[in-house]
Amino acid sequence: MHHDKFDHLLACAIHSGGLLQEQIAQILHFRLLGNERGFLLLQNLPIGDIPPTPRCREDMRKDDDSSERLLLQATALLGEPIGYVQESGGSIVNNFFAQQAQARAATADSFDTELDLHTENAFHAVLPDYLALLCLRQDPAAEAVTYIASVEPILDRLSHEERAFFLSEPYNFLSDYGPREKNQRIDIGRHQSVLYGDPDAPFLRFDPQFMLASSDRAQRLLGKLRGIAWDVAEPIRLARGDLLIIDNRRTAHARSPFSARFDGSDRWMQRAFAICNLRGYAERLGQQTRIFERVTER
Ligand SMILES: [Fe+2]
Repeated sequence: MHHDKFDHLLACAIHSGGLLQEQIAQILHFRLLGNERGFLLLQNLPIGDIPPTPRCREDMRKDDDSSERLLLQATALLGEPIGYVQESGGSIVNNFFAQQAQARAATADSFDTELDLHTENAFHAVLPDYLALLCLRQDPAAEAVTYIASVEPILDRLSHEERAFFLSEPYNFLSDYGPREKNQRIDIGRHQSVLYGDPDAPFLRFDPQFMLASSDRAQRLLGKLRGIAWDVAEPIRLARGDLLIIDNRRTAHARSPFSARFDGSDRWMQRAFAICNLRGYAERLGQQTRIFERVTER
């Protein structure tokens, strides 16, 4: 989307996104004070007229922009809305629906990282602080489940030594992004610990399908951590108008498989990312942008 067009949509979203004052307060509360679960779920929000779910990106027509405004209003309350060139060509609102051409490839082998718990873009120097997921249409069989594992219950199940290990042990986080496209698996030399930040209230980054351990012990503990994360993960079934806000620095998330019919009734999600320090990245990268390329340096 052209920048001016996006700025216009963002301005409309800020002024008339459709969130009630109480919902705005809930989002600000979540951003400023957080919660133990690491997510906020707002249900049954006004998303306007949703046309039949398209079968491919080329068929996507959506005249009513209520859902985009709602999503961007919520995202703007969390931080700065951003995109990546590898996601929907750099669109800030990403649309997700089953596409027939990709359906056969949608297995765990095809790097569909949504099937295992992961932090979004854990390898990326510009890590999304928050994800906002808006459900436009639930899958007809209501099979799709989103899981969220929060760092707090995970920490409760780790020993003191294991916490210290995850605060210091560097794992090699592989990049899911190539120069322009995703679903890659590239060594960009991004060695970093799973827990980081304040040791007493650490952040979490975790993507076991895209992490290389440098020792048997590191591999074994990564497996243990994955098991704990699945043990504490909360299942959420999103329905039309549900907005799920995920703290991407304190959680890992996943999504179950689900089936598609390709008849207009399939699951349709919109997603946006927020970062809290756009100006800090502008200073570090020497470039002010909302759309990031593959950034490997800090
Ligand atoms: Fe994800």
